Amino acid sequence: MKTTWKPDSWRGLPIEQAPQFPDAAVLENVEKELSVYPPLIFAGEARGLKEELAKVAAGKAFLLQGGDCAESFSEHAAISANGTNIRDFFRVFLQMAVVLTYAAASPVVKVGRIAGQFAKPRSSPVEKKDGVELPSYRGDIVNGIAFTEAARRPDPKRQIEAYRLSAATLNLLRAFSHGGYASLGRVHQWMLGYVKDSSQSHLYEELANRISDALDFMRACGLDPEKHPELRATDFYTSHEALLLGYEQALTRIDSTSGDWYATSAHMIWIGDRTRQPDHAHVEYCRGVRNPLGLKCGPSLTPDGLLQLLDLLNPENEPGRMTLICRFGADKVGAHLPAMIRAVQREGRSVVWSSDPMHGNTVTSTSGYKTRRFESILKEVRSFFEVHQAEGSYPGGVHLEMTGGNVTECTGGARAITDADLNDRYHTFCDPRLNADQAIELAFLLADLLKKARHAQVSAPAAAIA
Ligand code: PEP
Ligand code: CO
Repeated sequence: MKTTWKPDSWRGLPIEQAPQFPDAAVLENVEKELSVYPPLIFAGEARGLKEELAKVAAGKAFLLQGGDCAESFSEHAAISANGTNIRDFFRVFLQMAVVLTYAAASPVVKVGRIAGQFAKPRSSPVEKKDGVELPSYRGDIVNGIAFTEAARRPDPKRQIEAYRLSAATLNLLRAFSHGGYASLGRVHQWMLGYVKDSSQSHLYEELANRISDALDFMRACGLDPEKHPELRATDFYTSHEALLLGYEQALTRIDSTSGDWYATSAHMIWIGDRTRQPDHAHVEYCRGVRNPLGLKCGPSLTPDGLLQLLDLLNPENEPGRMTLICRFGADKVGAHLPAMIRAVQREGRSVVWSSDPMHGNTVTSTSGYKTRRFESILKEVRSFFEVHQAEGSYPGGVHLEMTGGNVTECTGGARAITDADLNDRYHTFCDPRLNADQAIELAFLLADLLKKARHAQVSAPAAAIA
């Protein structure tokens, strides 16, 4: 680990998951071009998110983070015609957030895996099909998904397109969250057409009615909900895995008010489970920017390894800086999480504990699709809450792969999607996502768990939740 940090001090360190670009000069030109583009987010916004996450770390709010495994350029192209994909995602996200806020009486910090989630780590650098071997698809910011030599060749110019689409997506998200669409008065209109006749829709309808009644009551008392920014708009933040470090470096800027370095590609960035080696490039880059950071914690991370990473990434133990995104697998939470929580408690570290119940539960269906069972996802989340309850710690959030679309990628849920159904609408570019129905169902189940956790917290002695 180098002692002085610079946006490029990761260069020259060992690095995992880095694409092999065929032409260094083209790459350099692209990075140069990106480095003079406007920042996508402001440092002040990243600081705002850090303050919100500090509330989560203190047990006073809940983090909802989610979106595509991999965003794709082509889905974005479809969006620009009428805004459909982003709007559908955003409204499902709002529905989930309102379920959690109302049913669990908890403020919800909203963070999308969106507007920059374009780079993917892969388990193998190559993919073989019918005797042909090609480089693996690494996300649209690196190469194309089609199984041809031309598509799979890493192309630096894709980074310009990723920047452009991130900016366009972010612009629309800002309009949705502050332009009236996210107003609580529209709680009924967020319901997606295709979810309308599901079991979730009745539960949601009931909850929306109660919120409308509360708003009517406020009006009757002379308070206009439309005049209150808390009810009329919402703060929605962006995040992605900081995997393609040349791109991240090009968008790293000094904040003029604080003089600190920030990644301006997203409000929050995270380090993946495959790139968290303490002496490697990704940790080096992330330790120097002041954004809130996520750290994926998988079964291979030891409690000591975690403390070492916390030392490097958050030496001042700043609340809201670190979100530990646990992704062990439904059957492994009990074996790994307690020791981690104890290590963090023993050392007095402030962290947000979040559960990613997706990445440890990926299986191959009999029909050959990469899928996840809704029951396994729920089981991991339940175990996560149980372990926190037993350790006197606060389960602060979830990290999901989900979409607003009516896809068939994860099995199970109230509509009981089967292995045989996967072929119908399997659209993901990488990992299987919850569809809107499954996402809302999970939100209701989560709201129950969260309500219990918050009650336990209220009745627990203050020392246990400090
Ligand atoms: C992801 O979040 O899409 C991912 C690759 O996760 P992980 O690093 O936890 O495997
Ligand atoms: Co994924």
